[in-house]
Amino acid sequence: MPTAADVFAKVRGHERVEQFHTAQETDLLPYFRRLESPAAPVVHMEGAERIMLGSNNYLGLTGDRRVMAGARDALERYGTGLTGSRLLNGTLELHLQLEAELAAWMGTEDAIVFTTGHQANVGTLGTILGPGDTVVADSGDHASILDGCLLSRAKLRPFRHNRLDRLERSLEKAAGDGGGILVVVDGVFSMEGDIAPLPQIVELCGRFGARLMVDEAHAAGVLGARGAGTAELFGVEEHCDLRMGTFSKSLASCGGFVAGSREVVEFLRIQSRAFLFTAAGVPAAVGAALAALRIIRSGEGPELFARVLENAAYLNRGLHELGFRVVEPHPLPDGSGLTTPIVPVVVGDDWKAVFLWRALYDAGVFVNVALHPAVPPGGALLRTSVMATHDRPTLDRALARFAAVKQAFEAEHGPLPAPAE
Ligand SMILES: Cc1ncc(COP(=O)(O)O)c(C=O)c1O
Repeated sequence: MPTAADVFAKVRGHERVEQFHTAQETDLLPYFRRLESPAAPVVHMEGAERIMLGSNNYLGLTGDRRVMAGARDALERYGTGLTGSRLLNGTLELHLQLEAELAAWMGTEDAIVFTTGHQANVGTLGTILGPGDTVVADSGDHASILDGCLLSRAKLRPFRHNRLDRLERSLEKAAGDGGGILVVVDGVFSMEGDIAPLPQIVELCGRFGARLMVDEAHAAGVLGARGAGTAELFGVEEHCDLRMGTFSKSLASCGGFVAGSREVVEFLRIQSRAFLFTAAGVPAAVGAALAALRIIRSGEGPELFARVLENAAYLNRGLHELGFRVVEPHPLPDGSGLTTPIVPVVVGDDWKAVFLWRALYDAGVFVNVALHPAVPPGGALLRTSVMATHDRPTLDRALARFAAVKQAFEAEHGPLPAPAE
């Protein structure tokens, strides 16, 4: 007997699928573009040279000879894959070394390495939270955080992005839920590049007895004197119970980690399904991440952090001066302003963002396009990002192309959002 509904019915005529096909047919799709060279400051993509302002290779280490040697040595020694989970046949001395050095970097008792950053979030939140708990999450948190919260079946109380009054209200409600409370925020938000006000969040967590987890995916290897992330930048490391990071950005590889107390990390090691029931990170990925971490922790690290942040400030200022709406530098307690390596250009309308992306692509600049649900509805933006290895002439060339494209674009499509006053 046929079922009342076909589970595949939803894939036909889905709004997203139709948009995808329209964009594909008109060659306006900003996604799945083919990269034909390493993710360097200037890349080859689909037959042309383009300035890469759309990668998370913040320190530019993916092509560093020492990082490549780390990957190559691990590959030569252990082969291409481990064909099993960390629990069984997939643990190498390299994983253990990496975990020890990550914990030392973060200044925590222990750290655990997952095969991806996404799994680190899902495997931590889905394990440490249970149906009786409440998780309070920023609405701008990364999808993997939301996935972990949903998996845990804890009560989810989202609060409006970076609004401390809303966080406080959610915590008041959470206190009445009767279980444990975990607040989870991105340190640097992945699309807008803005920063969580961690000192105030720490204060609120303390007031309500909540634990705090910070996703440092975009901040580790970038912010703080050791590059340990937002918690270090704000001097609140000892108040952040769990700190998550990925290898897929500054650490120039693939994988993720969670750092925290020994008892929690050990619990994850024996209970986290996303850790136990998946193959261990391949040797080359682990070898590369370890080599990148050693560079970050060497005297060279702070020079790289300074360079990527200077490049971000330069691009942000340049785009502002050209009349684009960018995110204002984040004010720091010492009175200075900080622009993270994510430098978004606010466009608003989805199709305008796509047309602008295409014009830049044709002009030889690759950027990312963030549409709803990655950003709020009507909040489409071009997500540009820089590397420590972008030199000034390359950034100037990119800015000149932005200027030329803006003029032609506005003549055809009307004005883009002006810089905020
Ligand atoms: C804030 C944040 N957390 C987690 C992840 C997941 O990391 P990965 O891509 O290494 O799986 C990402 C990356 O997309 C991210 O931006």
